[in-house]
Amino acid sequence: MGDRLDTGRARHVAIIMDGNGRWAKKRALPRAIGHQRGVEAVRRLVRALEPMELECLTLYAFSSENWKRSEDEVDDLMNLMRKFIKSDLPEFIANDVKLKIIGDWQSLAPDIVAMLEDALAQTAKGKQTLAVALNYGGQHEIARAAAKAAAKGEVSVESIAAHLDTADLPPLDLLIRTSGEIRLSNFLLWQSAYAEMLFVDTLWPDFEPAHLKQALDDFARRERRYGGR
Ligand code: FPP
Repeated sequence: MGDRLDTGRARHVAIIMDGNGRWAKKRALPRAIGHQRGVEAVRRLVRALEPMELECLTLYAFSSENWKRSEDEVDDLMNLMRKFIKSDLPEFIANDVKLKIIGDWQSLAPDIVAMLEDALAQTAKGKQTLAVALNYGGQHEIARAAAKAAAKGEVSVESIAAHLDTADLPPLDLLIRTSGEIRLSNFLLWQSAYAEMLFVDTLWPDFEPAHLKQALDDFARRERRYGGR
């Protein structure tokens, strides 16, 4: 992931999709329904990607800390992932969306790993990247990258960056978190060094493509300095 070019237009946006549980609670519905509606919000966004001209959208779908949730909720999230890949893969291919997965996804259930490998292969030629963080933790990603850099004999900012899961993605321009919480929760820690941050009160299932469009328009209008003047 190289230096950000100040083109005014965001190339890479990442989202911490938070608030599915609260969305469901407000309606006295099971948390699983909140997550289902969360997937629908993901689908709406992916369908609206093309005209936004983003090169990459990275979504925090399952953190390495999410294993601490109840077994039922973890199962629900994994099943939603299975269903989402199965149902939406043809659309990704048709719409030139390239899937990428970051995090320790190879240690997920074997059927999910196989499904993801197939989806990665089938979408490899896509133009816009949808990066999904699965079993992802930022500190762990940095530690893994640093270990790889050390094994090659050079530990530097550049060599660590070159071994991050996101090494082939454009620099992160904007990080959005929904649901009013103001923290990073171990997401893209290294990549956020110069990213702009936007915290919105909207609960994830209520997040619409228009919200992202507005965030991109606001981003393009702001002057960015990268620590210089
Ligand atoms: C946060 O809501 C959301 C998650 C832990 C998972 C995000 C997952 C999805 C949107 C669905 C799966 C994604 C894909 C790409 C298929 P929360 O449960 O922490 O909400 P709360 O803080 O209100 O309880």
